[in-house]
Amino acid sequence: MSIIAPSILNSNLLNLREELIKFKNEGIEWIHYDVMDFHFVPNLTFGPKLLKDINQEFNFKIDAHMMVEIKGKFEDYLDTFIKVGVDQFTFHIESFKNKDYLIDLIRYIKQSKIRASIALNPGTSIKELTDDILVYLDNVLIMSVNPGFGGQSFMEPVLDKVRQLVIKRKENKQSFTIQIDGGIDDVTFPLAKVAGVDSFVSGSYLANKDDLKSRLKKLV
Ligand code: DX5
Ligand code: ZN
Repeated sequence: MSIIAPSILNSNLLNLREELIKFKNEGIEWIHYDVMDFHFVPNLTFGPKLLKDINQEFNFKIDAHMMVEIKGKFEDYLDTFIKVGVDQFTFHIESFKNKDYLIDLIRYIKQSKIRASIALNPGTSIKELTDDILVYLDNVLIMSVNPGFGGQSFMEPVLDKVRQLVIKRKENKQSFTIQIDGGIDDVTFPLAKVAGVDSFVSGSYLANKDDLKSRLKKLV
């Protein structure tokens, strides 16, 4: 069964409550929460406060996609999000210069009983995701656009990485999920599904739509 995680990046924030109610009514379990810092990506979005407000009123699982530069002590930074409620943390492998530091962060996420996930930009090779990292992961996010903005075109060549990951997962006898983010709609969804994607982030295809039900029906 595919997981569909709508991203609220392109939602009209003045109507966010109504938007979330619509997702709830359609049986959506996961919300994808894009955190951008104006350093790792040329855009700035949400911090822990909006997430706190969402979690106070709704009981979605939260998939926090951290498009941020990481330096210094990460615990305090993570704790502000953990305190308000995160179910899966995705950090970008490109954010880390030091592998031990990345593994420390992943272990901290796991100790906090949160799903640990690592994202790869379209230009990043799957080889970067070495077995000593992969062994900890609950999810791998393959970006199908360069991160920063919703509404970009799907980059089909990244599906090669999905296929390689499916093989690797079998070889390693692992069970992490494979997620895709960027340009997912009714046309690109089946391509990603056939390649082996388990979990789909979708932003502008689902945001601010009156025909949400029929759009979601096309993502099966
Ligand atoms: C892009 C974000 C995505 C974005 C996807 O950097 O990570 O989650 O919301 O939006 P669409 O589906 O419009 O590409
Ligand atoms: Zn995202």
